[in-house]
Amino acid sequence: MLTFTRKAVLQALFFVSHSLAGVALSNEPFVKRDSLNNIPQGWKFHGPAPLDDEITLRIGLKQHGVDELVGTLYEISDPENIRYGEYLTKEEVDALVQPHPTSIAVVDDWLQAHDVDLSDVSRSSAKDWITLSLPISIVTKLVNASYSIFTHERSGNMIVRSLEYSLPASVSDHIDCIHPTTFFSFPSISPSLKTRSMTQSSPPTAKNSTACGPDSVSQMTPACLMELYRFDKYIPSSTATNKLGVVSYFGDFLREDDLQSFFQQFRKDAVNSTFSIQSVTGGITSSNFTGSEAALDIEYAMSLTFPTPVSIYSVGNDGPASTKNGDNEQFLDWALFVLNQTNPPQVFSTSYADTESAIPQEYADRLCTSFAQLGARGISVIFGSGDTGVDNDVACDAITDKTPFEPSFPGGCPFLTSVGGTASFNPEVGVGGPVFPNSNYRASGAGFSNYFPRPKYQDKAVSAYLSALGSTYEGLYNRTGRAYPDISAQSVTFAIVDNGELDADSGTSASGPVVAAIIALLNDYRLSQGKAPLGFLNPWLYSKGFQGLNDILLGQSEGCNGRGFNASKGWDPVTGLGTPDFIKLQKLLP
Ligand SMILES: *[C@@H]1O[C@H](CO)[C@@H](O)[C@H](O)[C@H]1NC(C)=O
Ligand SMILES: *[C@@H]1O[C@H](CO)[C@@H](O)[C@H](O)[C@H]1NC(C)=O
Ligand SMILES: *[C@@H]1O[C@H](CO)[C@@H](O)[C@H](O)[C@H]1NC(C)=O
Ligand SMILES: *[C@@H]1O[C@H](CO)[C@@H](O)[C@H](O)[C@H]1NC(C)=O
Ligand SMILES: *[C@@H]1O[C@H](CO)[C@@H](O)[C@H](O)[C@H]1NC(C)=O
Ligand SMILES: *[C@@H]1O[C@H](CO)[C@@H](O)[C@H](O)[C@H]1NC(C)=O
Ligand SMILES: *[C@@H]1O[C@H](CO)[C@@H](O)[C@H](O)[C@H]1NC(C)=O
Repeated sequence: MLTFTRKAVLQALFFVSHSLAGVALSNEPFVKRDSLNNIPQGWKFHGPAPLDDEITLRIGLKQHGVDELVGTLYEISDPENIRYGEYLTKEEVDALVQPHPTSIAVVDDWLQAHDVDLSDVSRSSAKDWITLSLPISIVTKLVNASYSIFTHERSGNMIVRSLEYSLPASVSDHIDCIHPTTFFSFPSISPSLKTRSMTQSSPPTAKNSTACGPDSVSQMTPACLMELYRFDKYIPSSTATNKLGVVSYFGDFLREDDLQSFFQQFRKDAVNSTFSIQSVTGGITSSNFTGSEAALDIEYAMSLTFPTPVSIYSVGNDGPASTKNGDNEQFLDWALFVLNQTNPPQVFSTSYADTESAIPQEYADRLCTSFAQLGARGISVIFGSGDTGVDNDVACDAITDKTPFEPSFPGGCPFLTSVGGTASFNPEVGVGGPVFPNSNYRASGAGFSNYFPRPKYQDKAVSAYLSALGSTYEGLYNRTGRAYPDISAQSVTFAIVDNGELDADSGTSASGPVVAAIIALLNDYRLSQGKAPLGFLNPWLYSKGFQGLNDILLGQSEGCNGRGFNASKGWDPVTGLGTPDFIKLQKLLP
């Protein structure tokens, strides 16, 4: 019955004028889109949101050709396919995902019926996202929901959200998601896990001809990583065209003098080189304070790939005044910004993650599709897998043997490469359990998505692990879900320089930039041969590239109370397919 009504209203809309559409809408029933029974765990009610506060509303219009986009992505990322490496242009990707003109018209009518001036609306280049600033009084009417301010208990961050939202029946079909509504999350900056301070007097390298000595276990350095993963001899040559992007959020940045001091100690030939900056939604472009996340990401991305140009994408906050600007829409803002560029970096490293269940699935789907769009452009999207094993960001005292594991996002999105963490060498082990008992960095983030089914490319590798696992943990994880991580790298006690001091930092935030750097150098090599960059990596990694990885056999993705998966031969949900061996990977390039 409802379906019928909806259709009838929709058909009617095609024939009425814009002003009449507004009238029709005001009498129409609402369709409930999402609702939460309670305020999500970890958040508390702060107060009603002031009705005249402005919020930035993002409306995801239904995209048109998502199936074709994904089909194309798999063709151009599969080394066996004749279309391999034939990446799409910005215009081609935009054309694929563009909403149907009817969707654009219906949504415009709906906004105008609420006195929105369409000239204040900003549209993504594919017209699939609308961004506009509106007083909460109007948003309340648009989505038939009241908005409140909620405080994140652990961090004190505030956000403006609703516990439910609805859309007029005729509009609902044309919209994938609206933000902010019921999305209660604040992505964790995976590390900021400074384990301890080191003094300048525990010097890093070069007493020996080998860069990785006994000291490297307590102080990982660029030289040791380059030796361990065998790219110390590689000299980049495509620096005019090759680029590596690093994404930074929440005003996390670094002081120029810290970067130079890091180079002085760990990569002397890079002294005086610097990065370029892209400011996304007002992100800062300089700072006199170095955040340890930024130090880790930028100092390693640059040192490991020098002289390859590195571009920092600094994403700003745009929350309403009542939240002290605490709110932001990081992944989406960054992805849309890059998708609007004609010549973005070929690899991006991001060391931030959310809890999957905190993100409404409709919104997670759209973010995941935007990573597919980046992949179709030939961009490798690389994320750290998280630092808390199988129990992403959950307080352990609330966990029983029957509590399901908590996957993270976007690790569970199939269109990116998720990087787990290892430590030590001879043998190198996945981080977790007895291997690394101290600090907040519990374990390499690992799991199985509840939102995204297992992609074909990892079917064989993951099925093999699951058959060996048998019925262990049955019911606690999703056997049919996209499994992560895909690959891994060192992640413990990386030397960093922040605010004038030599420190150490750990987490998969460290391993992400290492893998991103190695992929950037493989791209350097491909470009020097006149070939396309590697783009979306996973189809190649799982079909062939895995032979160029060191299979990690030890370690555990320990979550709460000792539970977690073991590393094992072949793919495992601790270290994925293994850690890079640059020389072998170079030989296996498509
Ligand atoms: C896309 O890029 C163009 C050119 O730089 C710019 O004028 C436009 O505002 C951008 N669009 C969006 C939605 O950011
Ligand atoms: C939602 O719609 C109903 C029916 O039109 C109305 O009574 C209610 O006040 C609306 N709620 C909000 C928060 O706008
Ligand atoms: C130097 O290298 C050798 C052989 O790898 C190793 O046994 C020794 O411990 C290293 N010495 C230092 C000071 O790192
Ligand atoms: C770096 O720049 C400073 C200031 O311009 C200069 O004095 C110094 O010699 C440079 N160092 C190197 C290694 O180029
Ligand atoms: C530098 O830091 C001081 C406090 O440490 C702060 O007051 C000042 O605004 C900062 N300057 C910039 C440019 O960030
Ligand atoms: C498991 O994942 C599938 C998608 O692969 C999904 O349809 C299903 O709902 C998930 N199960 C649970 C319990 O979330
Ligand atoms: C992991 O390995 C340990 C030690 O061999 C074993 O006791 C445990 O049962 C294994 N756990 C899983 C989930 O396979």
